[in-house]
Amino acid sequence: MAQQKTILQALAGETLPTPPIWMMRQAGRYLPEYKATRAQAGDFLSLCYNPELAAEVTLQPIRRYGFDAAILFADILLLPQALGADLWFVTGEGPRLSTITSADELAKLKPTEAIHDTLNPVYETVKILSRELPDETTLIGFAGAPWTVATYMIAGQGTPDQGPAHALKAENREVFDGIMNRLTEGTIAYLSKQIEAGAECVKLFDSWAGSLQEDDFLNYSIKPMQRITSALKEKHPGIPVIAFPRGAGTQYAGVHGATGADCVAVDDGVDAAWVADNVQKDGCVQGNLKSSHMVTGGDALVSETRRICDALSGGPHIFNLGHGITPDADPENVQLMIDTVRGS
Ligand code: CP3
Repeated sequence: MAQQKTILQALAGETLPTPPIWMMRQAGRYLPEYKATRAQAGDFLSLCYNPELAAEVTLQPIRRYGFDAAILFADILLLPQALGADLWFVTGEGPRLSTITSADELAKLKPTEAIHDTLNPVYETVKILSRELPDETTLIGFAGAPWTVATYMIAGQGTPDQGPAHALKAENREVFDGIMNRLTEGTIAYLSKQIEAGAECVKLFDSWAGSLQEDDFLNYSIKPMQRITSALKEKHPGIPVIAFPRGAGTQYAGVHGATGADCVAVDDGVDAAWVADNVQKDGCVQGNLKSSHMVTGGDALVSETRRICDALSGGPHIFNLGHGITPDADPENVQLMIDTVRGS
């Protein structure tokens, strides 16, 4: 019999004596072996589209730390690129895209079926990983949630307050809704293919959900994630979905029910005890440790890790950071976090 996968047990709602653990951006620039493979690939996008090397960097943190899950190495901005947007990364600054803000530009996007022409190497990476990962390690696929991806497509880059996307939403709702619909449809097609290639769970990253309030949060973060989740569950019953509306604050309460997701990932802006009472009561939760502890380490890392584990010990819990690990993190602090969670 295949070994039990603890991540899948937690996602199914089981309360485990020790929470399984993985880490957002666990394959990344804080690891010397990642930097070496990235140098071999050339630039970041070449790494994303090279199945052997993308699988290699996905496996690196599994070999080094034995995390309970591996997350596919790719990026949320590959989908807009597959839809026809130009995408490039400026070193030290981040992503740049050709912008979509008019009905003409929207109409020029490629049809949904065409995205696979670009995204096929990503599905190849998933296939390699599902062969090569240890039996006990869960393979997580992912995509950006429509709102977050739309903020990059509309602005052409990352923005501190997502101003351009909010402006288009206010000034040209038809084009804005058109972009959101194309992304929702594309995300369903993209994640379905990841699942067919071997992803055992998928995560939706809504990194900029925190700039949406009340009705906007419901309409543009929750509803698209709900549409994607229900379409995936219809096509692929039994594949769990993790929703991550980062920065949602008190709006995290009720996200399980409203999206249909099996797990809600929380950032570090909410207190773990509040999460236990208001979010975990509805299902599995994941996240919360401040990424900066991976830089600073020491007693604060240990006590914060213990505090989160204790607060969430009464229900299904996957240990994770509240956001991605940063390039200045110390790999030894990651080991200390894992040892603290696993009690060794
Ligand atoms: O978590 C993982 O290890 C899986 C792979 C993954 C990456 N990006 C790899 C990556 C995932 C899940 C993402 C998600 C992603 N990408 C998000 C949502 C999550 C979040 O962080 O808020 C966003 C907003 C992006 C877009 C993106 N990609 C930005 C803004 C940047 C530049 C920022 C930076 O750190 O330079 C990236 C690049 C990126 N994506 C890197 C990695 C490992 C660094 C690339 C490098 O090697 O230079």
